[in-house]
Amino acid sequence: MWLNIKSFDEYKEVYKNSVEDPEKFWEEYAGTFYWRKHWDKTHSGSFEEGNVKWFEGGKLNIVENCLDRHLDTMGNKTAFIFEPNHPDSFRRTISYRQLHEDVCRFANVLEEKGITKGDRVAIYMAMTPELAIATLACARIGAVHSIVFAGFSAQSLAERIRDCDAKMLITNDGLRRGDKHVPLKDISDEALESCPTVEKVIVCQRTNRDISWVEGRDEWWHMLIRNASKKHEAVEMDAEDPLFILYTSGSTGKPKGQVHTCGGYMIYTSYSLRNVFQIEEEDVYWCTADAGWITGHSYIIYGPLLNGVSGIIFEGTPTYPDPGRFWEVCEKYEVTHFYTAPTAIRALMKEDIEYVDKYDLSSLKVLGTVGEPINEEAWHWYDEEIGNGECPIVDTWWQTETGGIMISPLAGITPTKPGYATLPLPGIQPALMDDEGNEIKDTEAQGDLVIKHPWPGMTRGIWGDMERYQETYFTKYPGNYFTGDGCRRDEDGFYRITGRVDDVLNVSGHRLGTAEIENAIDEHPKVVESAVVGYPHDVKGEGVFAFAICDDGIGDPEAFKKEINDLVSKIISPIAKPDKLQITTGLPKTRSGKIMRRILRKVASGDTDDLGDTSTLLDPSVVEDIIKGKAY
Ligand code: WTA
Repeated sequence: MWLNIKSFDEYKEVYKNSVEDPEKFWEEYAGTFYWRKHWDKTHSGSFEEGNVKWFEGGKLNIVENCLDRHLDTMGNKTAFIFEPNHPDSFRRTISYRQLHEDVCRFANVLEEKGITKGDRVAIYMAMTPELAIATLACARIGAVHSIVFAGFSAQSLAERIRDCDAKMLITNDGLRRGDKHVPLKDISDEALESCPTVEKVIVCQRTNRDISWVEGRDEWWHMLIRNASKKHEAVEMDAEDPLFILYTSGSTGKPKGQVHTCGGYMIYTSYSLRNVFQIEEEDVYWCTADAGWITGHSYIIYGPLLNGVSGIIFEGTPTYPDPGRFWEVCEKYEVTHFYTAPTAIRALMKEDIEYVDKYDLSSLKVLGTVGEPINEEAWHWYDEEIGNGECPIVDTWWQTETGGIMISPLAGITPTKPGYATLPLPGIQPALMDDEGNEIKDTEAQGDLVIKHPWPGMTRGIWGDMERYQETYFTKYPGNYFTGDGCRRDEDGFYRITGRVDDVLNVSGHRLGTAEIENAIDEHPKVVESAVVGYPHDVKGEGVFAFAICDDGIGDPEAFKKEINDLVSKIISPIAKPDKLQITTGLPKTRSGKIMRRILRKVASGDTDDLGDTSTLLDPSVVEDIIKGKAY
């Protein structure tokens, strides 16, 4: 059966079947889970209507499938290995049985504090097992979790809490990443000043620093779990009930709360992990992402647990205390599957190769990348230096919206090509569209990447804004899901993602909307208007380049840039800070007032020889000024 595809011929056959009869295909996989009640209808709805559903009427709890289901056969198996920020700090392993107990305890705490099915709970935490426990406890009682990456600012956190009217916030006193300390509780306190719906805050101790305390609102995690029962009956959910909300950036200002559901997401994360990574029982799997991003949701928390895999939760950074950190951890735990972002690979390949050579990496079997296009140089370095030429590289393309990996080699099965995400997973039907909105049928082609048929892991909506959902994904190419990515297909039908075709940047694998950054920059009293574009950056993949029209008298440009960067850090996050800032007298606008970003992108990347047609600009002389200008 296709549960585990084992050869390229089998892949081709299974793929063909999945296109001919998608429902049958997904039914087979869905049947391997524990359902309290079988679903009534495998699939309904359409992209046109924006009302896709999978396994409706099926009753389940995803945590029962992650944990309870495994207790008899692998209760003592390690679920998580926790590796702290500093290698000398306390590390621990947690078995499936222990994790089940911890989740049950915390689920009881949540219920006792008045959280029930359908309530939203925001989670803003360090990368420790408690983050996973909080997440799973929410899912166990049917509360909708909304994890906010702990690098986001108070304002960003507040905006996300307000958007979904979260009733509770779970956080830490603080966190350490590398040599930095982030006062999560202080940031939370600031955020909550503008979040009236939050009734309770649960604080998990991590840094033991002094924090402020709001009596009646704040409670310590360790006090609450002390007397909580380790028995808990998981709440029955419909397959289509929301499991979580995760905010992501789009081309307009406000982040979009993607809604994923209990049944479809469960099936898709489990299926994609198993087939892409070709995981086996004794493997040790490490995804270095943060749980605040979709990669962490799907491939640190849910996917590995659903498959009964032992996974690593890593609190630190690739370069602390030194750039050998990843490889040290790989050696220490005999990691077999390693999954990271191209930006980390590019940063580490700049370091002395001794940091790699010092460690025994012979346990590695499969290497993965995600989040942004990987350049060929980084691909080869990863292959040769880390994989010793023996580990297949899975370049996995997917999105917050897709729930799981969509286009990727199956490890050791699909032939790989540097820079190519290669072929779609069975069940996924990609296509390339031309400017007129028609599907390009030629094998060799370039166009906008769309998906033609619904799949179980896809986003079911933008929280509170179904109109925007319809508009963003299903309007440009009616009948298809539009990914926002450009893509090339080669003569073998292999896909290579070329990057976003909308106003979304991908900085170190972090997705940022240009409008979001512009709005933040415009908050500066001296800024009249700004425009942000991406430019090629050798480590980050893409850097942030801001053009700003300012009132007179900005003073020292370096100092002004720092003011802008501080402002962007405060409003969004340090990850969104402009790498370059150029003060300008005007922006290239068309007569209808639209900024011609194409020109700014060329200037930002230093490619000003051929700016293309500028005749539709209101004032073409602006371009000359911009080319002559200086960036800081
Ligand atoms: C980009 C991350 C090239 C792409 C899972 C997509 C990639 C966006 C790849 C989604 C890849 C992701 N090759 N580009 N293997 N994987 N992307 O929502 O532009 O944070 O649209 O999800 O990252 O980013 P998101």
